[in-house]
Amino acid sequence: MEMEVKRYGAHVLALSYPSQGHINPMLQFCKRLVSKGLKATLLITNFISTSMNPKSTSVRFDTISDGYDEGGFMQAANVQAYLETLQSAGSKSLSELLDKYKKSGIPIDCVIYDAFCPWALDVTKEAGLVGAAFFTQPCAVNYIYYYAYHGLLTLPVDSGSLPVSIPGLPLLELQDLPSFIYVHGSYPAYFKLVLNQFLKVEKADYIFVNTFYKLEVEMVDTMSKLIPLITIGPTIPSFFLDNEDENDKEYGLNLFHLGSSNPIITWLNTKPKGSVVYVGFGSMANLSEDQMEELAWGLKESNYNFLWVVRDSEEAAKLPKNFAQKMAGKGLLVTWSPQLEVLSNEAVGCFFSHSGWNSTIEALSLGVPMVVMPQWTDQTTNAKLVQDVWKVGIRVRVDEKGVVGREEIEYCIREVMEGNRGKEMKDNAMKWKGLAKEAVSEGGTTDKNIDQFVSKLSTSSS
Ligand code: UDX
Repeated sequence: MEMEVKRYGAHVLALSYPSQGHINPMLQFCKRLVSKGLKATLLITNFISTSMNPKSTSVRFDTISDGYDEGGFMQAANVQAYLETLQSAGSKSLSELLDKYKKSGIPIDCVIYDAFCPWALDVTKEAGLVGAAFFTQPCAVNYIYYYAYHGLLTLPVDSGSLPVSIPGLPLLELQDLPSFIYVHGSYPAYFKLVLNQFLKVEKADYIFVNTFYKLEVEMVDTMSKLIPLITIGPTIPSFFLDNEDENDKEYGLNLFHLGSSNPIITWLNTKPKGSVVYVGFGSMANLSEDQMEELAWGLKESNYNFLWVVRDSEEAAKLPKNFAQKMAGKGLLVTWSPQLEVLSNEAVGCFFSHSGWNSTIEALSLGVPMVVMPQWTDQTTNAKLVQDVWKVGIRVRVDEKGVVGREEIEYCIREVMEGNRGKEMKDNAMKWKGLAKEAVSEGGTTDKNIDQFVSKLSTSSS
């Protein structure tokens, strides 16, 4: 029998890795825990807290130092320097914070740490608290890293070891592996970061993964035999999944761009159902000038309406001259979009994306088929799953110069927006949408998993 949750439940402190793609799902997870009776405080870095508008009606915020309070990651000499300082300054800051909370009326019972910050588990355990790891990326990607971490993958992967066979996954060619493996040795600091997610993970009391069970059944079952995983996704406000709970609509931690989303939605509302291609590449990807140009002409040639997030003036400078003005009416270029509202809008027929995990699970959960143009990290593997496992999209082909040409872009958009193949992808996307909603609805796999965690934590901390 489930334990009754205390009215003033246990207090969790959630430490996110300082980037948009990690903060968004952690915030949503915190919101869900609060809705189940816990208190939650989301920890972000001092720099991020000054460059964004951290607001939530239900989750508290607090800050730690990553050692670069004035400029964050951009201030560091390189990735390795940043990660080392994040660990040293972050550990000290976290330890002081736990102490501060201990003396306050709201001590921390559990630290949920982003698996990109495994050092937080040491601090948590030294303080005698419950520790939970949070994996932002899909189970399939985590499993590939797990394999590599335990030396089960021969690195570097060469033509002799292809395709790579990992239980529960389709056979993987080089381009399907996460890019840190695919371009082995090119990003040593990031490669270490993704493998170190498993550092002492067996000491964690809970291991959460931002996916839902029916999306990755085989993967979750296979990996759970090795480490006990708990699926808690999709971390999307329930309003977008069922249109019912108006109170659970808030989602934006818009890190760098503040402002109203209304003009975008107003524009979408003038467009016919399924007529708009939404183009966005998350918060980090930088396309080359050639690629931006090919994309621009490919969109134009497809003749569909499009909404394109071009993040800043540096990116905008890569566009063909006066492109935005020339396309006025047909195409809207913005520096930031309210992505969940956009994906939920009937006018959107297809999402042209980098297959970042949040964008992917958001599109799947909102029933939007995709064209995927992965750039790096987990995106390459996500793209494989989108096309060949979930069958909700198509992956672009890169030419011999490393660019995706305008004809290919136009072709892929047409494949998804029209014809039988496109219809199948839309039907599949709608199936995943239903299953995502089922997972988080009362009694669904995610909902039960979260209930069990809340119940256990509330019992152990009472
Ligand atoms: C990064 C990695 O690149 C990604 O591959 C990994 O899985 C998570 O961390 P990012 O590149 O920012 O994330 O992409 P993504 O995972 O898609 O996350 C972006 C988030 O910002 C999404 O939640 C998306 O809804 C939101 N967003 C992005 C907006 O709300 N508006 C925008 O205009 C762009």
